Amino acid sequence: MKIYRANLIDTPTKDAFRIIEHGYLVVDDQGRVVGVYDQLPAEYTNQPVTDYGDKLLIPAFNDLHLHAPQYRNSGIAMDLELLPWLNTYTFPEESKFSDTHYAQRVYSRFVHDLWKNGTMRSAVFATIHPDATRILADLFLKAGMGAMVGQVGMDRNGPETLSNTTEEIVAGVRDLYAYLLKNGQDGLVRPIVTPRFVPSCTEGMMQALGDLAKELNLPVQSHLSENRGEITWVKELEPQSTCYGDAYNHYGLFGQQPTLMAHCCYTDGEEMELMKRNQVVVVHCPTSNCNLASGMAPIRMFMNEGIPVAIGSDISGGHDLSIPHVMQYVIQVSKLQYARTQGQLQFLSLNEAFYLATKAGGAFFGKVGSFEPGYEFDALVIDDADLNYDNYTLQQRLERFVYLGDDRQIKVRFCRGKELCEPVVY
Ligand code: GUN
Ligand code: FE
Repeated sequence: MKIYRANLIDTPTKDAFRIIEHGYLVVDDQGRVVGVYDQLPAEYTNQPVTDYGDKLLIPAFNDLHLHAPQYRNSGIAMDLELLPWLNTYTFPEESKFSDTHYAQRVYSRFVHDLWKNGTMRSAVFATIHPDATRILADLFLKAGMGAMVGQVGMDRNGPETLSNTTEEIVAGVRDLYAYLLKNGQDGLVRPIVTPRFVPSCTEGMMQALGDLAKELNLPVQSHLSENRGEITWVKELEPQSTCYGDAYNHYGLFGQQPTLMAHCCYTDGEEMELMKRNQVVVVHCPTSNCNLASGMAPIRMFMNEGIPVAIGSDISGGHDLSIPHVMQYVIQVSKLQYARTQGQLQFLSLNEAFYLATKAGGAFFGKVGSFEPGYEFDALVIDDADLNYDNYTLQQRLERFVYLGDDRQIKVRFCRGKELCEPVVY
């Protein structure tokens, strides 16, 4: 059992922060939250308390969509739209991950920087390469951080250097599954079935991946309705599909297993209905949507419809690994939508964006992202003394950390109850 004292802030519901000034948080030996209290209950008064003084204690961040092999391209190469961007910058960079030394170098920095920015759980695309994908999974395990790691399936419309066969991707996912069943620290690191997107996968590969997800009871991740040119292309490639989402649904890759679909900038009508019915998660990636000039996803509409929403950095379409920085874009893009629709789509509040970054995203990993009883204790200690030089309220201090802070204010990181030390960069 562990007891922590700090200013506690979380979002059990999206509608408001729960704030406990100088509160106590009790964690059991399994790393789960027992409860939060403004006074320490009598039964614990003889126990040692770790006192973080006037610091903030908040749930750690969850990133539900990003590409580890694109990490070297962060912050560069943003002068093209999606399809030429993939061909010109992204596919050549991902092709380098046939080299396991290169993979170790880039992936160790990637995992280190997730740790640095307080992202304790992530849903990650790797590449087609099974050895490099295993290296990435091992780095997460060594760091003690939660992840769903996807070896990517792609067997059409890519370069020769970045294509695999149905047999190869199925064998790769099976091997990773068997390996992580043994070594995955009770599901802390798990495989996720990852067809890149419809233009990259033939019917045979999609069918095999849908069948595999069902057989091994694995989640699924891919991209959906990100860019106008992409959507037109999918219509040409899959004329029998009634919408882009239907092209996944046909193969059991659209909510038959828990499913993440990144972007959804142009999702409406039938596709929205299907996502609602199948409870497919929209992963909103506004930094990427700005950088690649893709568009603006109607997040308020998804929330009103009861479609689950989480947020992602989408490295390297998105330039910034920091989830609080992505939250700024979540709110700002929602305000542009608000203006564009004459106020019909209400913009998101800070507590709503925080909820998406913590509890909503965390739900994909189990009971994660909140300080309610039974939740895994994933948390960050924030020392914002440099930003808090006057009488700011606790909510204002959190706001200033999100808008003006960065990794320098993050002093301690917990995942599943364990304090994590700095991962090695090779
Ligand atoms: N669609 C297919 N692949 C990708 C990718 O790597 N990044 C983004 N943003 N969209 C994609
Ligand atoms: Fe992506």
